Amino acid sequence: MIKGMILGALSLIVGGVIVAALVIKLGYAPANADATPSWLEKTIAKTALRAVINRQAPKTPNPEALNDQNLIEGIEIYAQNCAVCHGASDGQPSNIALGLYQRPPQLAMHGVEDDPPGHTFWKVFHGIRMTGMPSFAHTLTSEEIWKVALFLQNMKTLTPAAQAVWKHVPSQAVKKAS
Ligand code: HEC
Repeated sequence: MIKGMILGALSLIVGGVIVAALVIKLGYAPANADATPSWLEKTIAKTALRAVINRQAPKTPNPEALNDQNLIEGIEIYAQNCAVCHGASDGQPSNIALGLYQRPPQLAMHGVEDDPPGHTFWKVFHGIRMTGMPSFAHTLTSEEIWKVALFLQNMKTLTPAAQAVWKHVPSQAVKKAS
């Protein structure tokens, strides 16, 4: 009886794996980016990300002091590495942002000021798997990542000097020739 149940369960699992492999091999599993992620896909991805970040992200405050120099360095790093996907102060998306499967938030409009800085640090350092969000672990130093996190944390309350630099980051929206 138990043997039969185990055999039944095993053949169900093997059958499931074969069907899944066939679906993928025959080209029925979606691999395109011009679609909207399903509710299930979003829920699984967000739950997994939240759990990993809660476990791994640094719990310390931002080690970079809040001053003009650090904020401006953070903005410059952002302009060079992030604005192409997350936009400038006008919050207008680039064509790249519009074409990504997981739409990157335009941070001037949907910012992360309320997130703990360690969470932002983790996302920039490690990137977010299976989205367009790259890891900067090998291209920015930890100090640079904390500075960009400092800017994002304080984007709505920048010092006048930093605000002037932020306003000068060019819009990423593609201007159509008229
Ligand atoms: C090639 C596009 C791309 C670039 C470049 C990029 N990101 Fe992202 N980023 C994304 C996408 C897509 C997401 C959304 C991921 C998701 O849905 O979970 C994201 C998510 C984020 C988030 C989480 C936002 C939230 O609401 O929780 C932060 C913070 C972030 N990026 C910061 C940065 C910073 C800082 C840089 C530059 C150092 C950067 N990103 C560069 C595509 C990009």
